[in-house]
Amino acid sequence: METTLVLIKPGGVSRNLIGEICRRIELRGLELAALKLINADRAVVEEHYAEHKERPFFGSVCDYLVSGPVVALVVKGENSVKAIRAMMGATNPIEATPGTVRGDMALSIEDNLVHSSSDVEAAAREIGLWFPEGLAR
Ligand code: PPS
Repeated sequence: METTLVLIKPGGVSRNLIGEICRRIELRGLELAALKLINADRAVVEEHYAEHKERPFFGSVCDYLVSGPVVALVVKGENSVKAIRAMMGATNPIEATPGTVRGDMALSIEDNLVHSSSDVEAAAREIGLWFPEGLAR
């Protein structure tokens, strides 16, 4: 059993896609172990993307994540890290396969709707960062 972190970014929240994205996760047979709608702290966002701090988009991606509410989710299930990455689609929506969240609902990398943890170690770090209070189940 694995847990992974999903963020629905401000564009996904403002486009009212929370239900659609959660519906797909639950339909797949994965469980929501924690869920919250929040205005993220910039410090949390900068820590989240810390490995990218030398990249040119670091400032703009952090600005974007604090530009409006985000939904943070913890998803639990067998192979959930890989399953969720596949369901979300390629990071750049132009390369994302139809049938994936990004392939169906996004067009630009600046607003690729969702984040999902890249591996089990990243998931543990990110869940601790976004849910310091712990999980609901
Ligand atoms: S990945 O999936 O981690 O391998 O992707 P990577 O290309 O390394 O990108 C890491 C995160 O940076 C975001 N990103 C960008 N944001 C804004 N503008 C540009 N040009 C850009 N390029 C990459 C990308 O969406 C990844 O963040 P998340 O939140 O995981 O989608």
